Amino acid sequence: TMKVNQVELVISAVKQEQYPNDMLPEIALAGRSNVGKSSFINRMIQRKNMARTSSKPGKTQTLNFYLINEMLYFVDVPGYGYAKVSNKERQAWGKMMEQYFSTRKQLKLAILIVDLRHKPTEDDLLMYDFFKHYEIPTLVIATKMDKVPKTKRPSHLKKIKEELDLEAGDILLPFSSETGEGKNEVWGAIRKFI
Ligand code: GTP
Ligand code: MG
Repeated sequence: TMKVNQVELVISAVKQEQYPNDMLPEIALAGRSNVGKSSFINRMIQRKNMARTSSKPGKTQTLNFYLINEMLYFVDVPGYGYAKVSNKERQAWGKMMEQYFSTRKQLKLAILIVDLRHKPTEDDLLMYDFFKHYEIPTLVIATKMDKVPKTKRPSHLKKIKEELDLEAGDILLPFSSETGEGKNEVWGAIRKFI
């Protein structure tokens, strides 16, 4: 695991000029709105409400750079797939994501968060393929495992792996922000990329 002593929200960025320029490795989150990206960060760093969460979708609107132990960044990003956004907002989201993911040298790993209970959505598949297009190593986290009975977890994981058609080298791990299950395994996987 990883002992997190220090966390700081360095910037909430809406454009490239605002990204940090200290060249530390970055790990960016992605996933549909309300899937649990911000909750994932909070659990990984053991802070209750460092990354703002909400039961309503669309909470995170900017690229939020969280500096961990002055060593790496978690980058929280706005979710996709929320029906109640205008075309204009959707375009702005696309532009912001494209700008960050297509050019960022410091980006070492994308973490795609999906819901262990459900089949990946069409948007999840697009997001994964987008990462593969830019050759970004991807760790897929199936979160909310606390909501799936233990005996059913393996078949749900298998289904997700098949649907996404995971490339060799990309890992899928179950996780729960509620209970903390999977946290050590996820830190173990992250370590290999930083
Ligand atoms: P946006 O910022 O809107 O894109 O959402 P997000 O992906 O950051 O989701 P967020 O972390 O805000 O969580 C959404 C809701 O899911 C909250 O009500 C969380 O409490 C709940 N949640 C997140 N992770 C888990 C989990 O592992 N288990 C359970 N039971 N609930 C979870
Ligand atoms: Mg969020």
